[in-house]
Amino acid sequence: MPARAVNVPWFREAKKKGEAFTVLSLYEAWSARIAEEAGVRILLVGDSLATSIQGHETTLSVTMDDMVYHTKAVTRSAVRSFVIADMPFLSYGVDETDAVRNAGRFLSEAGAHAVKVEGGAEIAGVVSRLVERGIPVLGHIGMTPQHYLRIGGYRVQGRGEPGAKRLVADAKALEKAGVFGIVLELVTEETAARVTKTVGVPTIGIGAGRKVDAQILVFHDLVGLNTSFAPNFLKRYAELGEDATSAVKQFLADVSSGKFPSEENVFHNNP
Ligand code: KIV
Repeated sequence: MPARAVNVPWFREAKKKGEAFTVLSLYEAWSARIAEEAGVRILLVGDSLATSIQGHETTLSVTMDDMVYHTKAVTRSAVRSFVIADMPFLSYGVDETDAVRNAGRFLSEAGAHAVKVEGGAEIAGVVSRLVERGIPVLGHIGMTPQHYLRIGGYRVQGRGEPGAKRLVADAKALEKAGVFGIVLELVTEETAARVTKTVGVPTIGIGAGRKVDAQILVFHDLVGLNTSFAPNFLKRYAELGEDATSAVKQFLADVSSGKFPSEENVFHNNP
């Protein structure tokens, strides 16, 4: 098996060296293989699975079993990557024993190398428990989609001095609890820069501007599979959704006109 370039100590080292890196959120074997072939070495199996794949409006309904299933699909093909699995809504932070058992499943059953949890100082206790038991944890603050209902939508976080102070305090609490990195989602560039300067672990931004240590995007968004999702922080590097629609239209047209199947697509009794 090829050696993995990334492990937990690597994250602090990368920050020290000022080495910018990329992470992709994806959910199955094919996109994982494409990401590895392109040179990405850190993959997140995000609970955005709910909105990108399962057709839900929020991430609240994803289950542990859904996440373990998809994490297995990724680890089966991403043999050179550091794979992080997202802990679903209420699978941590309610009962610490449950949190340890659930996080442990990602490592022992699904072959992940770490888990991600959403929240700041309020979940520092459970983060410490996980880390103490040998489960590496990536934090996630700013717009935390699992708190969508309380926040009242996907809103930019960290605005104004109180917003910035809260995120800095959350990041410090997570670092003290032992996270190896922190995702900053939908955070103003100024506040993201302040958080990034404050902590010794890398910040991984999505909609958090340029002054973070790393960037993460969702594979499906980056390649344009979801044509109706176009927030301003996203850059689409391909239009696979449009390409797929025209391919299917062409198939329909070819079947109705009799162009498909053609002679080269059929089997004969006598080859
Ligand atoms: O679920 C997810 O894909 C995520 C990333 C967008 C950070 O949490």
